[in-house]
Amino acid sequence: MSLNILEISYLIASLTFVVGLKMLSHPDTARKGNLIAAAGMLIAILATLVLYQSYDANKLFNYGLIFFGLLVGSIIGTIMAQKVKMTAMPQMVSFFNGMGGACAALIAIIEFQNHQHVTVTSAFDGALLVMLLGLVIGSVSFAGSMIAYGKLEGKIKDKVLPFNQAVNMILLFGMIALILIQFFGEINPMLFYVLLGVALIYGILFVMPIGGADMPVVISLLNSFTGIAAALGGFLYSNKAMLTGGILVGSAGTILTILMCKAMNRSLTNVLLGAFGAAGAAGGKSASGDQTVREISINDTAVLLSYSQKVVIVPGYGLAVAQAQHICHELEQLLEEKGVEVNYAIHPVAGRMPGHMNVLLAEADVPYERLQEMEEINPKLASTDVVVVIGANDVVNPAAKNDPSSPIFGMPILEVDQAKNVIILKRGMSAGYAGIENELFFYPKTRMLFGDAKDSLQKLATEVKEV
Ligand code: TAP
Repeated sequence: MSLNILEISYLIASLTFVVGLKMLSHPDTARKGNLIAAAGMLIAILATLVLYQSYDANKLFNYGLIFFGLLVGSIIGTIMAQKVKMTAMPQMVSFFNGMGGACAALIAIIEFQNHQHVTVTSAFDGALLVMLLGLVIGSVSFAGSMIAYGKLEGKIKDKVLPFNQAVNMILLFGMIALILIQFFGEINPMLFYVLLGVALIYGILFVMPIGGADMPVVISLLNSFTGIAAALGGFLYSNKAMLTGGILVGSAGTILTILMCKAMNRSLTNVLLGAFGAAGAAGGKSASGDQTVREISINDTAVLLSYSQKVVIVPGYGLAVAQAQHICHELEQLLEEKGVEVNYAIHPVAGRMPGHMNVLLAEADVPYERLQEMEEINPKLASTDVVVVIGANDVVNPAAKNDPSSPIFGMPILEVDQAKNVIILKRGMSAGYAGIENELFFYPKTRMLFGDAKDSLQKLATEVKEV
């Protein structure tokens, strides 16, 4: 009976994961979706704690340790989630992902110890294979995620070690050989721990040379690894909730990785093997030369915006840094009261994480209908009176279209140069994440409004009220 209830609880949990994930795809329902999936996870945990005992009395005995772990994990997780800044979200995701990978590897280690004493009758020891794969994938994900976390926190510098790719290939083939030797030969604890060590080193060396700007892609890839490792744990324990959760994370991570690469018009191999940041700093034409930029005052900007018919706002990473989303929404409302049509142009890789701008603007209650994807807004830009670029740079850089020597050449961009006027809000002439200059800033139709985005928008809102 209790086994049936346990299985039903896992089924409910699996369903909540699917429903929750579906709801995460829209900002209006995302928060609720997250809570529903978390509630499903809670059901699975509680059902295991209460009901698993009667199913297999030998396996669940250390309740003290379990509750201690739950308590410590919950406290650390809650504090981190409450303290994290929106711009530091990628590193937190990476850290949590690393913990998931470590869990999967620990499961493999513990089950391997039990497995050594089991007599396997079949020639195909599926459980052993699952443990070996879980160990490797979980360890690579853990080590790689920790390096990604360190890099995004600025604690670890990008480093291409001599013969890095060659060493990685040797390690990769070494891991495959170690898995095959153990699977087809005798169970050997020493080889198992050598495999653990090699997987950890591989995880470090795999992420080490990857440029900072590509880190979100790598995190998403490692995320899919953790999902696969967790699904392998689900196989091992015949646990359907773990299996479904793992498969969902694995496939969602893979899809996200592909989507991000597509949005940057780069292959995954190029992301993993090419040092994007370094190439970016070196490549590309210099637009500055003897050209000068034209500035615009707050007052002139307010007048221009107030007497426009169509305005498009392009949010970028700088908007997130300045935390200017609320005042940006306020300005948008003020302009709408004056009969101006205001929309937001959302580039798929604006900011530093997938959906960064959507989350940011949803936080400020900007109506979702105002947010338009790149493909949708680009054809409308020619009939736009003013485009206001707030803290965005790479995603509006025309070099992506017309400079083959630029490292971002080929990346689809928001074609803001098609609009009648372009106003850029940023603090100075610093480059964006790709480390390259932006010729848009020197175009005759472009005006620069220098200053912190929040500060400039606040002044603009005050001025627009007076116009
Ligand atoms: P960026 O190109 O990074 O440019 C941001 C600009 O914001 C900077 O030039 C900076 O100039 C300005 N800024 C910073 N703080 C500011 C503040 N307080 N007030 C006003 N301006 C401020 O941003 P983007 O256009 O959003 O492009 C995103 C980049 O990240 C792309 O290269 C993309 O490929 C990369 N990337 C994104 C993702 C995802 S998933 N989003 C994944 C991988 C890579 P100043 O310092 O002069 O102010």
